[in-house]
Amino acid sequence: MYQTETLTPSAIDLARAAKILRSGELVAFPTETVYGLGGDARSDIAVARIFAAKDRPSFNPLIVHVPDLAAAQDIAIFNDLAIDIAAAFWPGPLTLVLPVRPGSALSPLVTADLASVAIRIPAHPIAQTLLQAFGGPLAAPSANPSGRISPTRAIHVMDGLSGRIAAILDGGTCAVGVESTILGLLATPTLLRPGGIPVEALEAMLGHPLLIGGNANLPNAPGQLASHYAPAGQLRLNVTSPKPHEIYIAFGPGTLSLSATRDLTEAAATLFHALREADRLAGPGGQIAIAPIPETGLGRAINDRLRRAAAPRR
Ligand code: TXA
Ligand code: MG
Repeated sequence: MYQTETLTPSAIDLARAAKILRSGELVAFPTETVYGLGGDARSDIAVARIFAAKDRPSFNPLIVHVPDLAAAQDIAIFNDLAIDIAAAFWPGPLTLVLPVRPGSALSPLVTADLASVAIRIPAHPIAQTLLQAFGGPLAAPSANPSGRISPTRAIHVMDGLSGRIAAILDGGTCAVGVESTILGLLATPTLLRPGGIPVEALEAMLGHPLLIGGNANLPNAPGQLASHYAPAGQLRLNVTSPKPHEIYIAFGPGTLSLSATRDLTEAAATLFHALREADRLAGPGGQIAIAPIPETGLGRAINDRLRRAAAPRR
């Protein structure tokens, strides 16, 4: 049990956060997508602590965060295409799955002993400063208990992980609001998870449609829809006429809405907070319904998260 410290983005607190990370303990920090639960990606103990704090099945590999391309190349092997994609989208909400560089300092727990690694350069200035101050790669899954809604505010992290981690760096609200897009570059570029970079932007850069890959959250159970990002209550999707007892999340005008103006960027940024709010209003075992969201741009990431949030619990 920890007395979880809340840190501000001041120079003193950032130095404190880096020191905690160097001691092998965990610090939750803001990125432009969601809050990450950071630990030293080279330390078996730190990575094991991440799995323990989240109650995460350890076969699920983690994303490694680095400050720049040179640090990324210490860990993974980039071909010309990977370099071009990195130049176009990093720093930003894109994760690339690449071959691990032999002899890299990564803990094998980070990659679940795969020969590939998921890696990204976050754009958030606090994440950048923390990575520089720490001076190494940070493994960072979303800072929530496994299977629950991802955190886009420091208070969300506290709700889920207070007492389970050393510190939380409070950097306000995450601008993107859904996790990074994951692109597999082991062979033909393959979309492994829709996210903060729209698929259309990747396809425009590549000049061809993307292969849609397996379920990035369930490497061992292809075709099965994981219950994930789940509110406590039941969630019904694509609802235009909610039932009287349902808490309704609108897309357009409404008391609880992802975006009053039907803006998908705003909807992505609001999504996880709105699910938490609906959960609170619905109460234990309550029913939540949500409006249809267009399957374009960030709508693809939103619908992916909603399908998982509505999937049967295991
Ligand atoms: O936006 C984000 O990506 C956030 C912030 C904190 O950066 N992080 C995040 O990490 O969402 P996490 O651990 O919740 O998601 C990691 C995903 C999992 O679905 C995992 O299966 C996939 O990345 N992944 C990791 N390594 C992989 C690999 N070598 N091959 C395929 N998928 C991999
Ligand atoms: Mg997650």
